[in-house]
Amino acid sequence: MSHDMVITHGGVGATSEWNDGCERAAKSGMDALKIGTVLDAVVAAGAILEDDDRYNAGTGANLRLEGLCELDAAVMTDEGDFGAVACITGVQYPIQVARLVMEKTPHAMLCGDGAAAFARHQGIPPYCPVTERAMKKLVKYRRKLETSKLADLWPGHKFTGTIGAVARSAAGRFAVSCSTGGTPLTLKGRVGDSPICGAGVFAGALGAICCTGTGELIMKRLIAHRIYIALEDGHALKDICQAEIDRFPQGEYLGIIAIDQSNHCVLNTHDMPFGIEGDQ
Ligand code: GLY
Repeated sequence: MSHDMVITHGGVGATSEWNDGCERAAKSGMDALKIGTVLDAVVAAGAILEDDDRYNAGTGANLRLEGLCELDAAVMTDEGDFGAVACITGVQYPIQVARLVMEKTPHAMLCGDGAAAFARHQGIPPYCPVTERAMKKLVKYRRKLETSKLADLWPGHKFTGTIGAVARSAAGRFAVSCSTGGTPLTLKGRVGDSPICGAGVFAGALGAICCTGTGELIMKRLIAHRIYIALEDGHALKDICQAEIDRFPQGEYLGIIAIDQSNHCVLNTHDMPFGIEGDQ
């Protein structure tokens, strides 16, 4: 028999000294699950993390090298419903907009100006997520580019990820959410793994998976989907996730939170804040 459970993460590469925010988010997700659905749970948990300016999502998220705050987010349910936004600007809760894309449009993803216009049309008020800390970080990265090429700075570059949540209900339902400002050293218009179905997120009848880390590498490997397929093949959740961590390029950043009917898993190549709420 399954139990209610919500797991959150605050991005691989971030410090576990920030577990408190992830624990608060997991609790908020659990509160939402008690009166609602697994989708409500991952959206509620995500909103807490998007509001906490320590994490790279929503308020305080990384800025593009051009100075813009472009945000990516996604939600997915065990019924295969999926919604995402990419490079959206001027919203407080990108996960909420991703949910609206899923529920109110025939599309799976909206990006850029179209995503922002859709949010306004849905009554989401304009919001500036840019913080002083994010501006200072941008100045630091721009300085690096005075003496180095962007591509040369990338290998082994420290990624302080994403936020995400997975939820399971006692009835065995699953959902996942994910949100990010992307990596700090990126060009306007760059999209990582977070809003890509099967890369940063995947959910189905057997479980839900959320990844964080070097988006380009996660996207090319479709890691969330690969984990799910291995679950379908009957492998144990922890073994599957450990295999993905082991085969990820040495020194690069990958974090995984995952849940199935009776197990859960939190694994990461570098430090990663997380929170778990529910019977373990
Ligand atoms: N994993 C977040 C990103 O690469 O955008």
